[in-house]
Amino acid sequence: MADLMAEQVRYQHAISFTPLHRTFMAQASHVDLGRLTDESSLAAIRAAMTQYGVLVFKGQNLTGQQQVAFAQRLDGQLHRKTSAAVLGKNRYGDEAITDISNVSGDGDILSAEDRRRINGISNRIWHTDASFESPAGRYSMLYARTIPPVRADTEFADMRTAYEKLDEQTKELIDGLDAHHSIVYSRHIMGFDFSPEEAARLPGAVHPLVRRFTDSTRPSLYLASHANRIMQWPIPEGRLLLKDLMEHCIQREFVHFHEWTQGDLVIWDNRMTMHRARPFDDVTYKRELTRVTTLDIDPVPVH
Ligand code: OGA
Ligand code: MN
Repeated sequence: MADLMAEQVRYQHAISFTPLHRTFMAQASHVDLGRLTDESSLAAIRAAMTQYGVLVFKGQNLTGQQQVAFAQRLDGQLHRKTSAAVLGKNRYGDEAITDISNVSGDGDILSAEDRRRINGISNRIWHTDASFESPAGRYSMLYARTIPPVRADTEFADMRTAYEKLDEQTKELIDGLDAHHSIVYSRHIMGFDFSPEEAARLPGAVHPLVRRFTDSTRPSLYLASHANRIMQWPIPEGRLLLKDLMEHCIQREFVHFHEWTQGDLVIWDNRMTMHRARPFDDVTYKRELTRVTTLDIDPVPVH
C-alpha cells in the first residue's frame, strides 16, 4: 500500500517539458492524457502552457469522449459554435469535437469543390481559433487520428515575443485598440462565401489587440486573419495596421512548426499564439484530426 502511494506521488510529478524552440513550444514527457485526472499533474500542464504557449504530447490513444473529458478537466467549458457547425452535421455527434479533416461522413475524401473542404483549407491562413466568437477560444487541443504519408505540418507564431519586439512607438499606438474579428470576412477573402442565413449565425466579435493577463503572464498581440477592422479607426487605416502587424508576427524568428505523427495531441493557447495548417495533397491523402477548444471565460484555472 505504501509503495503504491509512493508510485502515485512520483507519477504526479513526473511530467517534464523539453523546449522545442528558443522562445516557445515544448514537448511533454510521456503521459496518458485519457487517464490523467490528478490535480497536481493538470496544474503542471497549465503552468507549462503559460510558460510555452504550445505543448506537444506524443503517443496518445483517445476516443472522442476522452478527448472532450480531458479538455474539460484541464480548462473547463468547451467551445461549440464553430464555422463547420454552420455548414453541416458533425460526424462525431458532438459539436465540441471539431472535425479537422478532409473526409466526409462516409469516410471518403472530400472532392475539390466540396464546401466543407474549402472551409477546412482556410485553416491554411494564420488565425486563432474562435476569435470571431465571444467568448473566444482559450486552449485548443488537436489530436491526430490519421496522418498522410506526406508532410502536413501546423505552424505556430509566438505572439508574446512578437509583441515584445514591436518598437515602443507602435506599442503606444496600439495600446487600447480593439479589433473586430469575422470569419465571414476571412473566408470571403479565401473565395468562400457563407449564405446570408449562415452568415447571420456568424456575426463576429470584438477583442483587444493587446491581451494582458490577470497573472504575471507577459502581454500578447491578439490577431488573426479574421481581424478586419480596428473599432476606433476608419476601415482602411485599420486594415493597413492589421496587415502590418500580421507581417511582423509571422517573421521566421517568431514561427515554429509541428510535424505530426499519429497519436500526437498538441495544445495551444489561442490568447498568445497564432497558427496555420501547411498545404498538402488533400484530394489524394486522408488527414483526420479532432480539435476540442475551451472557452476563454473565467475562472481561468490557477496557473
Ligand atoms: C485547427 C487548425 C491546423 C491544421 O485545428 O484549429 O487550424 O494543421 N488546424 O490542421
Ligand atoms: Mn485553427
